[in-house]
Amino acid sequence: MSDPFEQLPDWEIRVISPGRVNLLGEHVDYNQGTVLPIAIDRFVRLAARPRADDLVTIESLDLKSRLQFRLEDLDRRVDAQGKPLTGWALYPAGVAWALRAGGLEVRGLEAVLTSDLPIGAGLSSSAALELAFALAWQAAGGWQLERMALAQLCQRAENAYAGVACGLMDQFACAHGVARHALYFDTRSLQWQPLPMPPDSAVVIADSGLRRQLAASGYNQRRVECEQAVSLLRTRLPDIRSLRDVSPAQLDEHGDCLPPEIRKRARHVVEEIARVQQACFCLAQDDAAGFGRLMVAGHASLRDLFEVSLPELDGLVDAALSIEGCCGARLTGAGFGGCTVNLVARDAAGDFMAELGRRYRQDCGSQVVIYCCQPSRGAHLLGT
Ligand code: GLA
Repeated sequence: MSDPFEQLPDWEIRVISPGRVNLLGEHVDYNQGTVLPIAIDRFVRLAARPRADDLVTIESLDLKSRLQFRLEDLDRRVDAQGKPLTGWALYPAGVAWALRAGGLEVRGLEAVLTSDLPIGAGLSSSAALELAFALAWQAAGGWQLERMALAQLCQRAENAYAGVACGLMDQFACAHGVARHALYFDTRSLQWQPLPMPPDSAVVIADSGLRRQLAASGYNQRRVECEQAVSLLRTRLPDIRSLRDVSPAQLDEHGDCLPPEIRKRARHVVEEIARVQQACFCLAQDDAAGFGRLMVAGHASLRDLFEVSLPELDGLVDAALSIEGCCGARLTGAGFGGCTVNLVARDAAGDFMAELGRRYRQDCGSQVVIYCCQPSRGAHLLGT
């Protein structure tokens, strides 16, 4: 296969920025919990060069769309023609805005990009785009920030500029990916550690193709529900700062102070954080079967307690689990559509993928896009 960078202009700044798939620890990053994502070998690739003025021009080859905005208009969120910035335009503009708010030099830029990350599929195409631009502006501005600080500024772009109240997991994973490793990340202390993936297993992603408008509002609503759980539980447990501080046993004891729906949300979060801890032990022992069982429990919890699954995603998980060689399957990312992630015995991966596609077509009558992914290095400038 030819190098995708060949489609891009031969400019001085070239960035490659991966998407991510989360293996375990869903909807816990904004509760200060621990997560276990991997950066994947699907990327935003970007070529850029600085401009002398304050114009930013971006061309997306895949979307066949061009965007122009001026740095002086960032606060007004309008493009160079004065029209409101919408959709993917909010991500690069948000990054420029967040970097400037952080006191960093942001120059006018000409950029062309191409991506093989599906948009809105729960594989963090937006975080990949954000990190790609953060690195391009860093190279153009001649300053240097730690990867974690860059990830945090990109999260700020998404929170305050694009209006999605996401946690730090996606930007973290995109910035910190390590080949062949999962990333254990404590979103409270910001400590992280790469953990080797079981060598005999493959990570298979199945994209349902469903994209729900509801995703952003549903996501923000879940976040509010978790905050409500914390403030109600504080009447009994005054020292807690987030659901991270509540153990499953404490929730058993004090959960009666929560309305049923909020109690379900809290139960998912505290048990999911416990599952991540157990999953790290499984990885340390190359126990793919044990890891897979935790994924299955995680999916059931997202379906029944956090209520962010869809029948099609449940169907994909059920189908996967009935196929030989599959250790575990679950929806990944925010939910309300998007992808499932599957841990599969490496030798069985090819047959698994073919069979999952066939069963999904038969049961749900629609196509699913399935691919095997490799844990990859995080976003970086080419040649570094
Ligand atoms: C989205 C958000 C993340 C995280 C996941 C759910 O991907 O961007 O911060 O909350 O959903 O785990």
